[in-house]
Amino acid sequence: MSTPEGDLALTVRELSNMYEEISLLYRMSEVFSFLSTDEICSRITEEALNTLGVRSAAVLFIDEKKQALYTKASLGTWDASKIFEKDEGVIWKAIASKKPAAFCRLPETEYQGYLPDVGSLMVCPLLGKAKTVGALLVADKQNGDEFFSSDSKLLMAISSQAGLAIENALLYSELESLLVGAIRSLVKALEASSCWTAGHTERVTEYALGIGRVLGLGDETLERLKISSLLHDIGKIATPKEILNKDRMLDYEEWLEIKRHPNRGAEILVELTQFEDIILSIKYHHEHWDGANGIYGLKGDEIPLMARILSVADAYDAMTSDRPYRAMMTPSEAIKEVTRCSGTQFDPEVVRAFLVWTDDVSRRRQVS
Ligand SMILES: [Fe+2]
Repeated sequence: MSTPEGDLALTVRELSNMYEEISLLYRMSEVFSFLSTDEICSRITEEALNTLGVRSAAVLFIDEKKQALYTKASLGTWDASKIFEKDEGVIWKAIASKKPAAFCRLPETEYQGYLPDVGSLMVCPLLGKAKTVGALLVADKQNGDEFFSSDSKLLMAISSQAGLAIENALLYSELESLLVGAIRSLVKALEASSCWTAGHTERVTEYALGIGRVLGLGDETLERLKISSLLHDIGKIATPKEILNKDRMLDYEEWLEIKRHPNRGAEILVELTQFEDIILSIKYHHEHWDGANGIYGLKGDEIPLMARILSVADAYDAMTSDRPYRAMMTPSEAIKEVTRCSGTQFDPEVVRAFLVWTDDVSRRRQVS
């Protein structure tokens, strides 16, 4: 028979479970807003492991082409190398039913041998708006307990947030690669109109990303840097072909015309409000660290970091590329020249990163 004390204890327990679920949902929606797919997946596994107090947690993704599930992120004792062929076992079953599934003693069920290291298991499909992206799994409570319905509710709370967030992040990265692809084609078309700049943009992108990695920039900034590098000379679209293709030194008027390209690039992209940082890095990629001889006269930290990186990458490629009106430098001559201009034309910190990167590249070349 129920007593008032017993009822109260039950209500308190239910309330506390509810509170945990709500605070978990809040935490997750806060966390997911600006994260990449990889980051979201590792946060989910972390959250599932800690909230449910389990020995292992894993996020599995559906590989549409191979019709299989693979581990995207995992923590604890989970075997991340295992691939689950389509329709094989309990995980696919949960995905097909779009409902969570729990097994308290997996080895004693028909799925014996399916996951040899797992005693109890809970699976929840990761449902997006348009499709199922995979599943979230937790296995074996650390205190040896079985899974309760409150655990299943928590796992469902994490999964429901995670499914949508992952789907969004995947869509976003698909869009981003579409955008980068379109930019690449545009730049190739631009380079095709000038015989002296073929491959310049791709090389500058490679050098800039090399420097950016040494500087410890995060994935998102590196992605922005990639787009900046690909677009840095887009303003040359408006530069007369005769000037771009000229096989002699440019006269003063022609130099003035060339010097307009950073601003033109910025103007071409001005409508893209999400590109503000990229536009500024394009606009200022010919500024000099000491403020002298640049186009706008910015100096030091007034010049955006991406522009300072582009400046070094761009100059190094120009020096090591063939130009009809001057001899091409060898990489070591160009590295010396970049070093000589550290503190005047270039940001010394960026030059230091550039030297680490070139050193690394030449060491790797010697090994291979
Ligand atoms: Fe440029």
